[in-house]
Amino acid sequence: MSRVVLVSQSAGLTERIGYATGGAFLLLSPNPLPSTAAELFAGLRGAPAPDIIVLDADLDPNGALQLAHNLDQSFPCVVILAATSVEPLALSAIRAGVKDLVPVESDVSEIRKALERAAHYMALRTATAAAPPPVPVVDKPDGRVVAIASPKGGVGKTTVATNVAVGLAKRYPQQVVLVDLDIHFGDCASALNLEPEFSLPDTIQGAMTRDMLTLKSLLTRHETGLYVVPGSESPVAADTVTPKDISTLLTMLAKEFQYVVVDTAPGLSEHTLAVLDKANEMVLVTTLDVPGVRGLRKELETLDDLDMLPEARHVVLNFFESSRGLTIKDVQSTIGEDVDIVLNQSRLLPQSTNQGVPLLQVNGRDPITKQLNLLVDRITGRTSEALSGFTGRRGVKVERSA
Ligand SMILES: Nc1ncnc2c1ncn2[C@@H]1O[C@H](COP(=O)(O)OP(=O)(O)OP(=O)(O)O)[C@@H](O)[C@H]1O
Ligand SMILES: [Mg+2]
Repeated sequence: MSRVVLVSQSAGLTERIGYATGGAFLLLSPNPLPSTAAELFAGLRGAPAPDIIVLDADLDPNGALQLAHNLDQSFPCVVILAATSVEPLALSAIRAGVKDLVPVESDVSEIRKALERAAHYMALRTATAAAPPPVPVVDKPDGRVVAIASPKGGVGKTTVATNVAVGLAKRYPQQVVLVDLDIHFGDCASALNLEPEFSLPDTIQGAMTRDMLTLKSLLTRHETGLYVVPGSESPVAADTVTPKDISTLLTMLAKEFQYVVVDTAPGLSEHTLAVLDKANEMVLVTTLDVPGVRGLRKELETLDDLDMLPEARHVVLNFFESSRGLTIKDVQSTIGEDVDIVLNQSRLLPQSTNQGVPLLQVNGRDPITKQLNLLVDRITGRTSEALSGFTGRRGVKVERSA
């Protein structure tokens, strides 16, 4: 069991921590707040050193941040900061090494959850410290960033992104992360039936610490072994995310994961451009209609002009039905590229979206699952001829997707 110390003068917080820990905690109420771990622990009078310190920042926010920083630097423990208003402190708190921020008014179950997260993090930290030093990896290549994009909305980007991510994760467990960078209206969490604790803005803050352990503790785990960075909880929170933040996050994730799959918003916003700047591969999704196909041509031309078109790209034609009055060859001649994967119009996909279970999670034998698997094969370089059955053309652009 974790040893918890609360540093606070708030009777309410003390009472709720008492309930959350079953009374197993020590209270320190120094005034003024000491600035070092040594001074703080002098107040413990020989009691065992704590694993988790809940620091109430309300009386002296700067002092609390300074103490948190000193604890982080000098002592193996996890610091949770409590404050009436947590948002203004978020960035400085993360920089000070604080692992969690909770409102002072949090109820007992929220406090208990925060303590459980801290205990989990502490266990991870202890295990890492006890493990033999890692064998240095010489020149471990960065993972591949795979961006899913389209000029239009509703064409199946999130469907493709979640299926590709799950398909890759089943082949490379724990080695794949899906990042929802449809920053205002991302819905990857819902498509994967996840209820995340942390979302994109938290993860961005975590990336700023440049500490991989911190960053990984903010990712959400999916049952397939996929890690997920869910979108923002609200469009307002999303507005704090800058293109530079996105670059930093993707760079860090690519150092840790073999594949970083990124879902994006429709069009070429500055955020999507930041993604494409880091992307090694791009999956372009279109539907079989004139506005969609023209939009895709424009997007390809624009990216080409900007010199931002990744060499490896996969054009996916979604919602395919032969009765639409356009052929795959029409699409290819309009966009000047091969169509690499065709996904049929399928009633299974809306069902899977609504249930939050991507088709590649269950791996059925239906045609749409096979088509999605072909896309995963292309991305992993297993095949380059996904569409040969449709066009009779054999992987004209094979070398691009190597
Ligand atoms: N081939 C398909 N057949 C039938 N339904 C599909 C197909 N592909 C996607 N869908 C459904 O279309 C809906 C929209 O798909 P999705 O959310 O993936 O699009 P999107 O491009 O991410 O949209 P947005 O631009 O709003 O983010 C979902 O309900 C999805 O299940
Ligand atoms: Mg989407």
